[in-house]
Amino acid sequence: MKRVSLTQYLVEEQRLHNNIPASLRLLIEVVARACKTISHSVGKGALGDILGSANTENIQGEVQKKLDVISNEILLEANEWGGHLAAMASEEMESIHPIPNRYPMGEYMLLFDPLDGSSNIDVNVSIGTIFSVLKAPEGMTAPTEADFMQPGSQQVAAGYAVYGPQTMLVLTTGAGVNCFTLDREMGSWVLTQKDLQIPEETKEFAINMSNQRHWYPPVTRYVDEMLAGKTGPRGKDFNMRWIASMVADVHRILNRGGIFMYPADLRDPSQPGKLRLMYEANPMAFIVEQAGGAATDGRQRILDIAPQKLHQRVPVFLGSKSEVERVTAYHQE
Ligand code: AHG
Ligand code: MN
Ligand code: MN
Repeated sequence: MKRVSLTQYLVEEQRLHNNIPASLRLLIEVVARACKTISHSVGKGALGDILGSANTENIQGEVQKKLDVISNEILLEANEWGGHLAAMASEEMESIHPIPNRYPMGEYMLLFDPLDGSSNIDVNVSIGTIFSVLKAPEGMTAPTEADFMQPGSQQVAAGYAVYGPQTMLVLTTGAGVNCFTLDREMGSWVLTQKDLQIPEETKEFAINMSNQRHWYPPVTRYVDEMLAGKTGPRGKDFNMRWIASMVADVHRILNRGGIFMYPADLRDPSQPGKLRLMYEANPMAFIVEQAGGAATDGRQRILDIAPQKLHQRVPVFLGSKSEVERVTAYHQE
């Protein structure tokens, strides 16, 4: 079989759809290279002094792991010099990171969750990196946080890398979803799945059940109906999976179908859910929609949400279309 590299794919995709100009290609290749570096660090584990806590807190009050900090640094450094970016924003940094003056300023803005699934690092379970690409507004000279406040529907590219038994890169530029596997010997990304489509029929759901007592009634109803199994209103048995790395849960759903939920709950109305709109919900929603699935916050399409602030959190329901539509309808009743 002829191997298609990420570079070849990007060049051919541009010829076909005219949606990956050279500067965006550079951006994607640089991000992919950074993910390769992160993958390498992840793989070293205890041999690489990358496990454990960094003994610092991020803007959201979460204790940072060493690998959160390392991955953030890798992505920042890789993306500064290329001239393709105007600014970056990260889950791990309080404010945006404009490109330093010594480099030319580009037309894109990059957002990332450098290390998703932090709680899984030290126990050798799949983790990942999520990224989202926006266009800088016309005429922007000095980027500010306000320039990032664009709905997810404006993303020009999004993707994630998953560091699991295999390291994979899943990418969309708005014309379907494609999947690359890292050839560790060659150090190259090879196209291994074309035009991924989320299976329609599903019997799998993903939610952190330990929060059940805090849920709002529509979520309780939806999950109860699945738990009732064959003799319940859904007329079939369901299976449950929760990896606690969004990247890994979404990757399973892209390949096997299912629904992923991180709802808002009764605990703290100022924090609707756990996941972050700009670094997690938007890029994953873009990918899932491009793969024929759906993504809502329980009421509206995630990609239609007008962001209020950089680190904003949102409830997330995403995956197989019919399931997302069902739980969204329960919220609207
Ligand atoms: P992060 O490691 O970037 O903070 O994200 C963790 C997120 C997401 O990946 C996962 O789905 C969820 O948190 C797990 O939450 P629980 O701890 O409630 O299981
Ligand atoms: Mn995350
Ligand atoms: Mn993270």
